[in-house]
Amino acid sequence: MLGSTSTVAKAICIELAKNHNCKRFHLVARNKNSNHELTHRLETSFDALVTEEIVDLIDSSSLTSLNIPKVDNYELYIIAAGSLGKAELARKDIKEALEITAVNYTGIVTWITSIVTKERISQKGMLWVFCSVAGDKGRPSNYHYGAAKSALSTFCEGLFLRCQGRPFSVRIIKAGYINSPMTKGKVPKLLCIDPRTVAKILLKKPNRRGTEYLPWWWTLIMFIVKIMPHSIISKL
Ligand SMILES: NC(=O)c1ccc[n+]([C@@H]2O[C@H](COP(=O)([O-])OP(=O)(O)OC[C@H]3O[C@@H](n4cnc5c(N)ncnc54)[C@H](OP(=O)(O)O)[C@@H]3O)[C@@H](O)[C@H]2O)c1
Repeated sequence: MLGSTSTVAKAICIELAKNHNCKRFHLVARNKNSNHELTHRLETSFDALVTEEIVDLIDSSSLTSLNIPKVDNYELYIIAAGSLGKAELARKDIKEALEITAVNYTGIVTWITSIVTKERISQKGMLWVFCSVAGDKGRPSNYHYGAAKSALSTFCEGLFLRCQGRPFSVRIIKAGYINSPMTKGKVPKLLCIDPRTVAKILLKKPNRRGTEYLPWWWTLIMFIVKIMPHSIISKL
């Protein structure tokens, strides 16, 4: 689980441990204390065996021999890290622009490349990647984040097709608004789905492959958004 301290990742871990009898977790995250809190909960409440790894995706995006991820074999790999960053700042600050790209795309590519090896895709396994509806259409308010998520979706679509007909599945989750620090103060709570609901929906059909909008009705919203004229989109 990469980005295990994210709200959605925590909800999926708890749901896996509580209702799917999952006993083994490897939690990869930037925040050591928050990651350890989740480890403690999984160990004490669900008797799970948990290992931790601390990673900053900004470091993962620059290639040195020291930060090539080492990935063991697991049944399910989840990529749930991501950050809106400071969208206003990124318009004029190259460092912020590149950091948003690193957290949402280039840093993640190093991990996915290490996960999806030739050997691994010939065995049973699953990769779930959190992309976003923001990647479907450029908007003035968050185009660095949107572009990075768009690149991530395209990368994963190619990967999904490469894995077609093989035991290893790739699932691209284009999520709408989720109630988390990412949406706090930006999107009315009423429009956000609960992270526990996200976990339940995903774990209802764990073997799904390919792209899915979550919840499903974002398929309809995005259909409309994609055909909207620029004069309307530019105000969003
Ligand atoms: N919330 C939404 O409405 C929404 C909608 C569509 C898609 N998504 C996507 O769904 C996923 C989960 O979202 P969420 O709302 O649960 O997020 P969240 O609670 O805001 O958590 C974001 C996660 O990204 C990690 N992260 C940020 N910068 C990092 C860095 N430099 N290195 C490593 N990790 C870093 C954070 O780690 P720290 O704990 O160290 O900060 C945290 O684990 C993300 O990919 C997000 O883009 C969310």
